[in-house]
Amino acid sequence: MKVLNESIIKARLSKLLKTRKMGKSIYVFNELDSTQDYANSLPKNESFHGTIVIARKQNIGKGRMGRNWISPEGGLWMSIILIPDFSVDNIIFTQFIGALAVADAIFENTKICCKLMWPNDVLINEKKVCGILIDVHVENETKKIVMGIGLNANIASSLINDYLTSHDLKATTLKEEHGNEVDLLFLVKSILERIEYYYDNFISCGNTSEIIDRWKEKSDMLGKKATVHDGNQMIVGHIFDIDQTGALLMKLSDTSIKKITYYDNVTLH
Ligand code: BTN
Repeated sequence: MKVLNESIIKARLSKLLKTRKMGKSIYVFNELDSTQDYANSLPKNESFHGTIVIARKQNIGKGRMGRNWISPEGGLWMSIILIPDFSVDNIIFTQFIGALAVADAIFENTKICCKLMWPNDVLINEKKVCGILIDVHVENETKKIVMGIGLNANIASSLINDYLTSHDLKATTLKEEHGNEVDLLFLVKSILERIEYYYDNFISCGNTSEIIDRWKEKSDMLGKKATVHDGNQMIVGHIFDIDQTGALLMKLSDTSIKKITYYDNVTLH
C-alpha cells in the first residue's frame, strides 16, 4: 500500500474484492492512533456488517490484555466490524474465524503453512506473525463485534524487537519468513474472503464443529504442557482438547479438568 494514497487504495481494494458484504464500506488512513479505536467509535449508522478500517501505520496500536501493539508502516493493521445475529456466548468463534482466515490468506499468498495458538495467534516457525483482538459491544438487542487484525507483513523483524522482550512468545514477520514482500491489498482481499466464507458457513449451519475441527488441524497446542495465570495463581497442566463452546480444556495432575476461556492468559512450555 506504500506509494498509493488513501482513495486509490480504497478504489483498488473495492475492485479486487469478490465478497458479498466484507469490505463494502472501507475507511483507509495513512496514519491513525488505532484502527480498533476508530472502528469501536463509529456510530451505529456507519457500523455496517463488513465495514473495514485500515491504517498504513498506527501510533497507539492496541493488543490483547492491555498491551500495546507496535504498528510501523509495512504491516497490515485492519479492524473489521461484524454485526452478529448469534448469541454473545458464541463470540469466541469469531476469534477462531479471524485466525483461520489469516492462516488461509498467508498460505494463499506465500504457500507458508501457519500454526494457530489459542485463542487467536497465528504463528510461523513458533513465532507470532499475527494477533487478533476482539472487542464486543452489546447495547439492548444490538451487538457489534470489532475484529482487529495485526499482521506483521512487510516489516523487518528488528522493528518489532520491543515486542520480543515483553512477551513470552517471540515475534516474526512475513517478510522475514517468506524472504519477499507480499502485496498487502491481496492479503486484505484473501483475509476478507476467507472471513466471509467461515462466517457465512458458521451462521448458515449454526454448528461450530467445522470451525473447531479446522482450528484443531492447524493448532499444535493439543498435548502440550501449559500454564494458566489465574490472578496470583499459576495452574499447570496439559492441553488436551477444545470443547463445543470453544474453551480450551486442560488436564491437571490430579486429573481434574480446567476450562480456559478467552480472557485467561495461557503460556505453553
Ligand atoms: C494481540 O495482542 O495479539 C492482538 C493484536 C491486535 C492488533 C491489531 S492491529 C489492528 C487493530 N488496531 C489495533 O489497535 N489493534 C488491532
